[in-house]
Amino acid sequence: MELGSPAHKERFCRQFLESHLDYEPENLPWPDLQGEDLARLRGIPFWREALLTEQEAGVMVTAFAETLDDPLIRQAVALQGQEESRHARLVDFLIRRYGVEISEYPYPEVPANIRDAFIDFGFAECLDSFFAFGMFGIARQAQYLPESMFQIFDPILDEEARHIVFFINWITYCQCQSGYATPWRGTLALWRYGRALRKLLDAFGNPENQAGQPFTASQAGHFMDDLTPELFFDLTLQENEKRMARFDPELLQPLLLPRLSRLALGALRLRPRRLSPAAS
Ligand SMILES: [Fe+2]
Ligand SMILES: [Fe+2]
Repeated sequence: MELGSPAHKERFCRQFLESHLDYEPENLPWPDLQGEDLARLRGIPFWREALLTEQEAGVMVTAFAETLDDPLIRQAVALQGQEESRHARLVDFLIRRYGVEISEYPYPEVPANIRDAFIDFGFAECLDSFFAFGMFGIARQAQYLPESMFQIFDPILDEEARHIVFFINWITYCQCQSGYATPWRGTLALWRYGRALRKLLDAFGNPENQAGQPFTASQAGHFMDDLTPELFFDLTLQENEKRMARFDPELLQPLLLPRLSRLALGALRLRPRRLSPAAS
């Protein structure tokens, strides 16, 4: 299958459309939480940001779909818009069902340059989802909440995995159609990743400044005591591989973050260990 060919388009669109799950958030088997479990759920610091991000995504992606000429791509992007809006409804339902207190939030607006907004969102979603997979795995392993809650969110993360695989294939398809050769495609992707990457470096490099950080990366320690950067990258890479193994191997997958994380993990493993007081 040649990238940018009609066969490529057919494959990434069909794969996306055919793997859609039919459910409504209020019909999911939400567990009754009490005591410490309820306090933990309410204490997770990102519900407001998650709600805002999903609402904005739903509005923007749906509006972007309406600007597209290709009927198959339009159908797939419209479905992504529906799924993002459903994520927003799901987070909203959780906030109300479990009495999570959040401050006022603005109503989402359609951005002026919607294609640019969709592309920026797509690259940022590649980054956020990678860390969300890791954080989810860490919280699940630490049994931070009852397993029934993880079972509700598991398919949501699979939906985000579908979104980023669709996005990476769509952007490559568009670039091939515009005649960009491979090195230029890589350069453009890197440039687009730049903003998202700066956020990532901030998250690990500047603990004083929490504003604007990718919440998934900066707050993973919330779920596990003694979470070292080494363990964080190791678990995140494992979770990413698990989610990505389900996709058609002929399709592209986001690779930059897994590669950077593998480099970071290699560097961390090479670090000289500090001797414990007993050993010294
Ligand atoms: Fe989403
Ligand atoms: Fe998404």
